[in-house]
Amino acid sequence: MLRLEGVEIAYGDAPALFDVSVHVDRGELVAIVGPNGAGKTTLVNAIARLLPFRKGSMHFQGTDVTKISPQAMGAHGIAVIPEGRRLFTQMTVEENLDMGCYRRNSRAFRDQSLAEVYALFPILRERRHQISGTMSGGQQQMVAIARALMSRPEVLLIDEPSLGLAPIMVSQVFEIIQKIHRGGMSILLIEQNVNKSLDVAERAYVLDCGRLIAEGAPSELRSRPEIAGAYLGHASP
Ligand SMILES: Nc1ncnc2c1ncn2[C@@H]1O[C@H](COP(=O)(O)OP(=O)(O)O)[C@@H](O)[C@H]1O
Ligand SMILES: [Mg+2]
Repeated sequence: MLRLEGVEIAYGDAPALFDVSVHVDRGELVAIVGPNGAGKTTLVNAIARLLPFRKGSMHFQGTDVTKISPQAMGAHGIAVIPEGRRLFTQMTVEENLDMGCYRRNSRAFRDQSLAEVYALFPILRERRHQISGTMSGGQQQMVAIARALMSRPEVLLIDEPSLGLAPIMVSQVFEIIQKIHRGGMSILLIEQNVNKSLDVAERAYVLDCGRLIAEGAPSELRSRPEIAGAYLGHASP
């Protein structure tokens, strides 16, 4: 449903992505993993149409979306949960969730969407009047995910949800991502936490220094000595 082919992105003269081809099929949970500085956020911003493509193309549900605006991309049903969450920290939880209803028609489903996200995150229902900036990092990540779901997207892009979270919260956030996926959502998960991402993904790409260096099922990637050795934090068997 989302397909990038041969994408090259640069900041001025400095290239950040080289010949990147990735795709997400409907209902898939795909991970793109790689170390800090690999180009993961650049790829997210490219898909969100915030960065121009120097080369390559992007198709979404069969339509060429290589040159459309970020607003149009959102209208197509791509929701981005940005790195660092970017909540409206002075606003309450529920006010943040309402800001998620930007997509045409999502407003009409507001009450239904709210009920769905509160079922997924009971803590957010309890805290719905709390100023979001006063919540823990993990709870703020939940608000960010819930806000994206309020737009009733076709695909969710989640950039580094584990960033800055305590290990217990990281596990919870990954469980929630898995649950949303089981509910039928197509998800592109972008992460530095390779192990946790491979635990939940159906397919994964490894990005390093702006290039895709591997793609496959998590079990296959784990069994490759050069991947295990370099990215999984333990020596290969
Ligand atoms: N706004 C920018 N201007 C110039 N260079 C950037 C900018 N954002 C990122 N970069 C560079 O692009 C590369 C990839 O960064 P980024 O996509 O943020 O990586 P990741 O998200 O994997 O940590 C890095 O070398 C980074 O310094
Ligand atoms: Mg990043």
